[in-house]
Amino acid sequence: MTQTNSNQLLLDQVIAAYSRTDNERWNTVIESLLRHLHGFANEVGLRPEEWWTAIDFLTRTGQSCVGPRQEFILLSDALGLSSAVDNLNNATMGGATESAVTGPFYAPHSPHIENGGSIALAGEGETVLIRGRVLATDGKPIAGAELDIWHTSPNQLYAVQDKNQPEMNFRGKLRTTADGGFAFRTIKPIAYPVPVDGPVGQLLGKAGRHPMRPAHIHFIVSAEGYRSVTTQLFTRGDEYIGSDAVFGVKDSLLIDYQRNTDRSLAVDWLLEHDFVLAG
Ligand code: BEZ
Ligand code: FE
Repeated sequence: MTQTNSNQLLLDQVIAAYSRTDNERWNTVIESLLRHLHGFANEVGLRPEEWWTAIDFLTRTGQSCVGPRQEFILLSDALGLSSAVDNLNNATMGGATESAVTGPFYAPHSPHIENGGSIALAGEGETVLIRGRVLATDGKPIAGAELDIWHTSPNQLYAVQDKNQPEMNFRGKLRTTADGGFAFRTIKPIAYPVPVDGPVGQLLGKAGRHPMRPAHIHFIVSAEGYRSVTTQLFTRGDEYIGSDAVFGVKDSLLIDYQRNTDRSLAVDWLLEHDFVLAG
């Protein structure tokens, strides 16, 4: 029997062992996963030392997942898999705001702030007022929609990565007013690197890739009766727009900050942006 034939018999046995449960979806997913895993090994003629390198890499990835550090999410992001899953499950509907990956730095329980309030508790940088409305795809304003917002500090770290920042720095939730309006103040975000002190950093280095994400702000926008959207707004013109380390940028999510000329607002920049939710 040839090697190819014996591996085909082996794969048939393995599939039979795992994909005969009473859960149809599980059977479909596990069978496809096994076919691709075995297919990959067969296609490249996987060598033992390569296999052990992969096991070691995955072991270290798991060992790096401590507290808020989520190296497996980062790995999925850096391989473009998170964006692929996002694209598969969030088809744009009728002009609704497009989604983007959540990333490993989302933290629940951000503090509620007043409309017009600030999410910047500490850090120096250019100030910005961000305002707009949350609308339905038919253009009607959505009152009481929630925006859950997070971004990095000017030192290029999220508060969850940095013990020297207040825990809730650059994080906040607010609700839209009766006309669907929202406004908040913050410091204009800058580009930052994903963590490179773990296995994913080594992978990026091996591939000769830089670790930078273009400047962006994360949002989860939700409202009762509507599909919530997890997304990001990216600064147009950022030098890393075309080479995001985690493949998250979409054209419809590029935004333009305007220099503020209204002194009464007391900010350096203004961003006007509406979010649109599908019903
Ligand atoms: C982020 O934007 O927070 C992020 C996304 C993917 C990987 C690392 C960071
Ligand atoms: Fe981010």
